[in-house]
Amino acid sequence: MAKLSYHYPLSIRIWHAINALCILLLILTGISMYYVDPDRILIEFSWAVKIHNVTGVILSFSYLFFLIANAVSKNRKYYKMPLKGLMNRLVKQSGYYAFGMFKGEKKPFPLTEERKFNPLQKLFYVLAMYVGVPLVIISGLGLLFPESVIKALFGVSGILITDVLHVAMGFFISLFLVIHIYVSTIGHTKSANFIAIISGYGWIEETENETKSEE
Ligand code: HEM
Repeated sequence: MAKLSYHYPLSIRIWHAINALCILLLILTGISMYYVDPDRILIEFSWAVKIHNVTGVILSFSYLFFLIANAVSKNRKYYKMPLKGLMNRLVKQSGYYAFGMFKGEKKPFPLTEERKFNPLQKLFYVLAMYVGVPLVIISGLGLLFPESVIKALFGVSGILITDVLHVAMGFFISLFLVIHIYVSTIGHTKSANFIAIISGYGWIEETENETKSEE
């Protein structure tokens, strides 16, 4: 039986909207700066730099808000990932995404009051929010304030390492974004999750006995 459940507090929805807009702008200006070509200008270079830097600073503050909000609120429980049986759960969820859902199989980890993300979603949210985004911010601030970066590491220039790390994390977050938007369409309906991250209410398909034992 499916029913609506309040899954996304206002703080998380506001953070998510600011975060999504910043990341989209950073990807756009990042691509424009990276593939700068006087003949094919996406955004004029000096403007791309200005927008990228200001948006980067806004993203840093919004990330700080996410960290604190997630640390002090109940929302953090949804990011807890017990290692015991993790591989088994990830394989089960991957099998569902790869085959099960096309054969109309039941979801192995249906959303419930207690579970807002399936194991694969959770793994990618933890990687994006506790590895990818902090590293892209720290390396970005290093590029914005190059005097704060170490001169060299094992003979390799500190700025080069910072730049490679920044671009690599930018690439990872772009990939995450594409997968994230696709996986968000696999909900109660194609638009249900998008409505949920705006309204706060998501559909849960709780079946009592199943949920407790699985995680
Ligand atoms: C246009 C861009 C984006 C769209 C359309 C979008 C869509 C969504 C949707 C529909 C949800 C709710 C469903 C779910 O829990 O999966 C969600 C949640 C989430 N999104 Fe996004 N997203 C976007 C960008 C991003 C970016 C750039 C990040 C991180 C770098 C991100 C991180 C998250 C996280 C962590 C949650 C769970 C929030 C929570 O409940 O704690 N999203 N997003």
